[in-house]
Amino acid sequence: MDDSTFFIIGANGQLGTALRQQYPRARFADRIELDIADPTSVQNFDWSGITTILNAAAYTNVDGAETADGRVASWQINAEAVANLAAICRQKDITLVHISSDYVFDGTIEGPHTEDEPFSPLSVYGQSKAAGDLLAATVPKHYILRTTWVIGEGKNFVGIMLGLAEKHIEPTVVADQIGRLTFTSELVRAIDHLLRSNAAYGTYNVTNDGPLVSWADIARRVFSVAGYTNLTVTDTTTAEYFAGKEGIAPRPLNSNMSLAKLHATGFQSRDWQDDLERYIAHYTAN
Ligand SMILES: NC(=O)c1ccc[n+]([C@@H]2O[C@H](COP(=O)([O-])OP(=O)(O)OC[C@H]3O[C@@H](n4cnc5c(N)ncnc54)[C@H](OP(=O)(O)O)[C@@H]3O)[C@@H](O)[C@H]2O)c1
Repeated sequence: MDDSTFFIIGANGQLGTALRQQYPRARFADRIELDIADPTSVQNFDWSGITTILNAAAYTNVDGAETADGRVASWQINAEAVANLAAICRQKDITLVHISSDYVFDGTIEGPHTEDEPFSPLSVYGQSKAAGDLLAATVPKHYILRTTWVIGEGKNFVGIMLGLAEKHIEPTVVADQIGRLTFTSELVRAIDHLLRSNAAYGTYNVTNDGPLVSWADIARRVFSVAGYTNLTVTDTTTAEYFAGKEGIAPRPLNSNMSLAKLHATGFQSRDWQDDLERYIAHYTAN
């Protein structure tokens, strides 16, 4: 694959950073050069030579999206910008790789979410991401990757837990949301696999594999791998954790994504526990 024909959007986010490392010759632009929420900016941009847009940009502040300003920003970047990118991809026969979320579901089903489950988003963020999926799917050559609990370079749960451990703070963490971590390295591997193998266009769930766990379980694993075995993590429920707090987005409790469709393409997922060890080893070495 010629990565000089790739264009990365949201290049400074967790996933965007990992994509730039994987595809060093890919082009990318900052918001001044290309405002993807503005249809004119997207239409007037020079897309010559671009075969594939990797859209890692999103409004990811799920509680912020419940505010008046956040609701607008969330719809602008998670939906309107995707409409603008989808239009240019259709016009110029560009492949669109777009990233979606477990938050497009309410998480009330038993068992894993499959790619064809009907949308049931609970929050503004989830609703705007669901709209983005529908828009991305209007591009003939599209891959929509639905992921969960993303961990890469940037602010994320594992980094926050490591920061608490260093200060010897013993946190109370929700134990009734169930899922798996997804390292940006795993997302990048899946994107690369789908593109290289010319997998059928469409929607694919992509998370790390391994045991389904709660955030509290992950916090305990982080503490243990990082060597803070004397610190305790106390379980709570999502309802208790957010009780009395204003403007909190509802969260799906079941974030178990079926990986069967991805695996049927020949992709072998890595266990989140192995990637967590590598991540913490890298984090503590730097
Ligand atoms: N994080 C998670 O746990 C999670 C879970 C499920 C799905 N996802 C999805 O995974 C994808 C990647 O998430 P992530 O964690 O890598 O996100 P992230 O670290 O929050 O990065 C998002 C990036 O989008 C950029 N962006 C926002 N508005 C923009 C605009 N108008 N124009 C250009 N860039 C803009 C941000 O730029 P600034 O830094 O300048 O704001 C930021 O660099 C997203 O689609 C997200 O919805 C994430």
